[in-house]
Amino acid sequence: MTTRILTGITTTGTPHLGNYAGAIRPAIVASRAADADSFYFLADYHALIKCDEPARIQRSRLEIAATWLALGLDTDKATFYRQSDIPEIPELCWLLTCVAGKGLLNRAHAYKASVDKNIEQGEDPDAGITMGLFSYPVLMAADILMFNAHKVPVGRDQIQHVEMARDIGQRFNHLFGNGNELFTLPEAVIEEDVATLPGLDGRKMSKSYDNTIPLFGSAKQLKDAVARVVTDSKLPGEPKDPDSSHLFTLYQAFAAPTQQADFRAALEGGMAWGEAKQALCNLLEAELGEARERYHALISKPADLEDILLAGAAKARKTATPFLGELREAVGLRSFRSQAVNTAGEKKKAGKSARFVSFRDDDGSFRFRLLDAAGEQLLLSKSFADGKAAGMVNKRLQSGEALDIREQDGGFGVWLDDECVAQSPAFPDSSACQAAIQRLREALAPAE
Ligand code: TRP
Repeated sequence: MTTRILTGITTTGTPHLGNYAGAIRPAIVASRAADADSFYFLADYHALIKCDEPARIQRSRLEIAATWLALGLDTDKATFYRQSDIPEIPELCWLLTCVAGKGLLNRAHAYKASVDKNIEQGEDPDAGITMGLFSYPVLMAADILMFNAHKVPVGRDQIQHVEMARDIGQRFNHLFGNGNELFTLPEAVIEEDVATLPGLDGRKMSKSYDNTIPLFGSAKQLKDAVARVVTDSKLPGEPKDPDSSHLFTLYQAFAAPTQQADFRAALEGGMAWGEAKQALCNLLEAELGEARERYHALISKPADLEDILLAGAAKARKTATPFLGELREAVGLRSFRSQAVNTAGEKKKAGKSARFVSFRDDDGSFRFRLLDAAGEQLLLSKSFADGKAAGMVNKRLQSGEALDIREQDGGFGVWLDDECVAQSPAFPDSSACQAAIQRLREALAPAE
C-alpha cells in the first residue's frame, strides 16, 4: 500500500537555507520513494491569517513555488498545488467547523499564546485576534483530511495541529461514518535526524530572528551572509573546536562524511576562520548553484508556474471533488432526486428511509451500501476505482429502471450491463432472501 504524505507551506516569506535543510530537501527526497504518494501545497489561505499585505502574499507564493520546482520536485509523481485553488478545502473546513469543539480550539497553543500576551499587557483577551487565527487548526484539518493523508511531516510547533486534525476527523467519522472510516486519521512525522540549522548568530535559523542565509540569493549575497556567521576570535593557526562552532554545524548539514572529517581536522589543525567561511561558500555553491539558475529561470516565467500549479490543482481535485460529494451525502446535504419522497403524506413502507451510504475502502477504492429503513444492509457495491463511477452506478440504481436481480451465493446480486455491481449479504434461507429482495424493490421503486 502507498503512504500518502501531505504537508503545507505557509506563503508569507522567502525560503532560506534553514527551510531548505529542515523541510524542503527532506520532503523532496521523501517524494521520490517508490511507495510515496506526496501532496505538497502552498498554504496560502493560512498565509492570509498571518499577513494582510497582498503584494507579499503574492510574491511569497511565487517564490516558494519556484523554489520547490527548482530543487527538483517531480510534479508528475507528487501532487503540487495551491490551497486556494481547491474550493473543496474551505467547504470541508465548514463541515469540520460544525463538529470541532470550541473547547478543543481554545487549547491551541498559537491562539492561547495570543490571549496570554493580551492579558499580560492588560488588554482585552481577544484584542486583535481574528476568527482566522482561532480556526487555524480547523482549516489545517481540512487540508489534511481532504486527501486522507497518512503522514504529515511538520515542525514541532505543528504537532498539536495534526493531533487536532485527528480528533476532529475521528469525531466526524463517529457522527457520520456509520461504522466506516470516512477519514483516515493522520499522524504527525517529525524528522529527528533532519538538521535544524543555526543562523548567523547561532540561534535557530529563522526569519523572526533575522539571522538567515538566503537560499537563492546571488553568489555575492551568499558570501556576504556567510561572512556574518559569528565565530570566536581564535587567530589563524590556533586550533579551533568544531563542536562549538555554528560554522561547522552549517558545513556538516551539506557535506559528505569524508568532507566533514576533513573539515574537522582542518579546523583542529588551525585553519583560519576566513578560509573556513570560503570552504562553506564553495560547498553551498556546489549544492545550490544549478538550482539557483533554474529558480531564476522559473521566476522569470510566472505564467508557466501558473500552468504547473493549475495542473496540480486539477490533479488534486480529481480526489477532492468526489470525496467531498460523499461527505456532503454523509452529513445530509443530499440531492432531492435520491430522496424516496412521499408527497401525498402516504408512507412508502421500506422506501421511506432506505438510504445509500458511500465510503472509501481501506485500499482507497470507492464503494457504497444500501441500508433499509431499519439500518440493515441490503446491498454492498463492488469496488470502484473512482468516486464518479461509483456515483453513476448509485444513480442508476435509484433511477427507477428495471432491476436485474439474480440469486447467488445465498443472497442476491444486482446486475447492470452484464456485471454484478452490488451484492446482498447471505441469508439463512430462501424466504429471508425473498423478503430482502422485496424490501430492495420497494426501496428503489420510483417515487409516485
Ligand atoms: N500550519 C503549517 C505551518 O505553519 C502549514 C500548514 C497548513 C500545514 N496546512 C497544513 C502543514 C497541513 C501540514 C499539513 O507550518
